[in-house]
Amino acid sequence: MATGADTRQGIFVKRAVAPCHPWQSRGIHSFVRQLPHRPVNIGDVDGDSVSMSDWVSFFDSDHSIYVNARHREVHARITGDGMMAHITRSDRVLDYGCGEAAYAERLVREAETLTLCEAAPNLAEALKRRVAHERYIAVMSPDEVAALPGGSFDVVIMHSVSQYLSPAQLDTLLTLFRRLLQPGGKFVIGDVVQPDTPAWKDALALLQFGWREGFFLAAVAGLFRTALSDYAKLRKDAGLSRYSEDEMRKTLERAGYRAHRHVPNIGHLQTRMTFVAIPR
Ligand SMILES: C[S@@+](CC[C@H](N)C(=O)[O-])C[C@H]1O[C@@H](n2cnc3c(N)ncnc32)[C@H](O)[C@@H]1O
Repeated sequence: MATGADTRQGIFVKRAVAPCHPWQSRGIHSFVRQLPHRPVNIGDVDGDSVSMSDWVSFFDSDHSIYVNARHREVHARITGDGMMAHITRSDRVLDYGCGEAAYAERLVREAETLTLCEAAPNLAEALKRRVAHERYIAVMSPDEVAALPGGSFDVVIMHSVSQYLSPAQLDTLLTLFRRLLQPGGKFVIGDVVQPDTPAWKDALALLQFGWREGFFLAAVAGLFRTALSDYAKLRKDAGLSRYSEDEMRKTLERAGYRAHRHVPNIGHLQTRMTFVAIPR
């Protein structure tokens, strides 16, 4: 067991009794290096990749989605807390489309291992550098995740990503996650955008969030910046994928899961939805 050197409170005992897996016996990073190579580019599904790749490029750029440091910090706290409600200490967790994952170091202390998957290359590189010293966190590309053996995870979380995927891309991922989940595991999809959410409603929600959390003026300035940015252009041209509660539940069921909506949503926006899906 690789746990002898890990003296973080609470984790030492749990890992000492958990079943041994490659990340424990060799360390997560050596496990990642041994992955077989099987290129999978979900952006190419059905040739409808334009909007998908544009969104990933946007997230890979020096964007201003977070209006200031306080916004970034509050987002990370709320998202991390929301994810923790779905995991236990013995879970091997995949966070798919993790973005900056500023909550990762906190989250992994509540899990067995944490695998962060991010398609945006610069973002992923920065993430790798930041968590390099974290033995139980791995950062992988979508291709690397797609090449993992079946049953690699107990929980897969995909938060605030479905709106940037075409329905065909989402279906491909749902099939992949079903394979990657071990029997009894679960898939949690958060921040699903509902059909009736025009940009002004999101803008209003940001102002309310800023008011509650102490970054109101920065939120006002941020909205002006966003209105003139690539985000506004992309949202208009490429659009966002939206699902009603019924549509998302049926999508999950068609892909072979039993699914129910979970309240609250993982993120702060309660107009968006979280679902918990168990492979049938
Ligand atoms: C709005 S951010 C959400 C980040 C994080 N999940 C959170 O809630 O803070 C969406 C992220 O999904 C990533 N993404 C989009 N499509 C992806 C894909 N097909 N595979 C992996 N990451 C993807 C984007 O690059 C971006 O970092």
